Amino acid sequence: MPQDWTQYRAAVDPATYEQRWAGIENPHGEADLVASYGPRTVLDAGCGTGRVAIELARRGIAVVGVDADPAMLDAARAKAPELTWELADLADVARRGEFDVVVLAGNVVPYVAPDRRAAAVAACARALAPGGRLVAGFALRPDWPTVADYDGWCAGLALEARYATWDRARYDGGPYAVSTHRHP
Ligand SMILES: C[S@@+](CC[C@H](N)C(=O)[O-])C[C@H]1O[C@@H](n2cnc3c(N)ncnc32)[C@H](O)[C@@H]1O
Repeated sequence: MPQDWTQYRAAVDPATYEQRWAGIENPHGEADLVASYGPRTVLDAGCGTGRVAIELARRGIAVVGVDADPAMLDAARAKAPELTWELADLADVARRGEFDVVVLAGNVVPYVAPDRRAAAVAACARALAPGGRLVAGFALRPDWPTVADYDGWCAGLALEARYATWDRARYDGGPYAVSTHRHP
């Protein structure tokens, strides 16, 4: 199991990564949950090739995508050049108080290098507008972060809900968690 995105990408190029979503019944489950909160602004943190951001923009939401992998971001930009794509490590995101939702979709949290995860989640939390939501979904695997690790990194936010899936199935301690934390 790759320990971070650099290891994963050594074996998978952006086009191959995109194909992963082709056979999925609803490739927009993340966008559905995010849009259900009625946000005007969303930061797609670790946006990759833009799957979630592009769908949210299609629904009329103002989105910014940020990612540290230039090739993934190039693929996003090629699909939607009109959107805002920023190359940055999440830990270095300097935006403050701007977004109604910051979404970490598709295992972004475990793919951040272990020594940057706490700083990355903290920077995402700082980017939230008052009352905003940090929404993250990731698999719970041996050697990957636990939900307790993640909750600990969401300092200053309150856990609002935890689901087993993006369509809000009840979380029962299984192998995937979607967590929403709220800015006070
Ligand atoms: C599995 S992909 C998910 C992409 C997209 N969110 C999606 O759901 O299709 C994980 C993404 O996290 C990004 N990533 C990993 N560590 C990062 C970091 N420290 N800062 C910014 N992006 C990071 C990778 O570059 C990659 O695009």
